[in-house]
Amino acid sequence: MANNIIIKNIKELVTCSGFKAKKGREMQELNILKDYSLLIEDGIIKDIKASWEELEISKDDYEVIQGEELSILPGFVDSHTHFIFAGYREEEFYERFKGTPYMEIMKRGGGIANTVDKTRGAHKETLLQLGRERIKDMISMGITTVEGKSGYGLDLSSELLQLQVMKELQEEGEIDIASTFLGAHAFPKDFQGTKLDYIKYIIKEVLPLVRKEDLAEFCDVFCEKNVFEIEESRYLLEAAKAMGFKLKLHADEIVSLGGTELGCELGAVSCDHLLQASDEGIKALASSNTIATLLPCTAFSLKESYARGRTMIDEGCAVALATDFNPGSCFTQSIPFLIALACYNMNLTLEEAITALTINGAAALGKENIIGSIDIGKQADLLILKYPSYKFLLYNVATNIVDVVIKKGRVVYRR
Ligand code: NIG
Ligand code: FE
Repeated sequence: MANNIIIKNIKELVTCSGFKAKKGREMQELNILKDYSLLIEDGIIKDIKASWEELEISKDDYEVIQGEELSILPGFVDSHTHFIFAGYREEEFYERFKGTPYMEIMKRGGGIANTVDKTRGAHKETLLQLGRERIKDMISMGITTVEGKSGYGLDLSSELLQLQVMKELQEEGEIDIASTFLGAHAFPKDFQGTKLDYIKYIIKEVLPLVRKEDLAEFCDVFCEKNVFEIEESRYLLEAAKAMGFKLKLHADEIVSLGGTELGCELGAVSCDHLLQASDEGIKALASSNTIATLLPCTAFSLKESYARGRTMIDEGCAVALATDFNPGSCFTQSIPFLIALACYNMNLTLEEAITALTINGAAALGKENIIGSIDIGKQADLLILKYPSYKFLLYNVATNIVDVVIKKGRVVYRR
């Protein structure tokens, strides 16, 4: 079977059709086709027709799926994770849960630094194996593309190692991985010099190698009070941009610092978190092409109030949703939980949440031309639900109802 599939008479084809991010009210539109048929050839969506007899078939080897009872969506895009790490932080989590703030634990030398120690001490094979297991879980929830960040190495060799691990996992072909360099995730305890010296070290010693070995497409920074302030972040991002990296920021997560405005000014592909984004920040997002990537599972896990997703959409922003899966602030990969929080607690409609996880997630990775919707010419990354309507994604609260996942025209998961 050469990645060729015909799906006949699909009850509900939730196309999310489009080749660019959807902003504001456009996010409500899912472009649903009823009783249409779909042709996949060589892993690409080749044709979509009202009647399967009209499909322009050019191969002779197909898997045929009867779609009469099915709801089919584009594969989900999880556009913000830190899924390559070793060790866990369950003790810190307990302490946090009892009331110690995230930044307090970080100040004491725990938090990200804790995971850095464990990740530096891990063998490549261990990181690969952990990565494979996590990818398996992602796929079971319908994720067909994931972004992953470095940032648990904070020195040349271990930052490169995390990126190399992601590159090898990408080559294994189960999922597409967009890689982000996040060397400025925290100031490493063992670094001799100031924060600015560390940023200069990244620019001079690390980023050129990341570029040369084509290990990351994006450069990200934890732009936060007492981590990397606005001017330090700007210094790094401007240099990264000049080297050809696309930009992302962890912005306005704990304190309202203005990282959102900085990201929009520099033409970042996305600004992420945004719990404390100011009105000016939201306006800057609405009038730019920068995606507002919201991570409500993190707000939940930190017991912080949610980003103002409803306001952002009402103001005309393009919002994406992602898990932020990481060992500290958000140890969950759950898409069903993410959808529940977005809809129940941030007041997004289900349609907006789906847009945020598909075409807008793709746009948050600069891939809106190849994934994120069911359009002719796009990669055949799809999921089939257990129930005949996408509305069950809201109704069956926080439950995984993905039955089948198709990646580049190949069934990679069946419940
Ligand atoms: O996105 N905020 C910074 N970085 C991660 C957390 C990383 C960690 O705690 O290990 C985040 O929440
Ligand atoms: Fe993050």
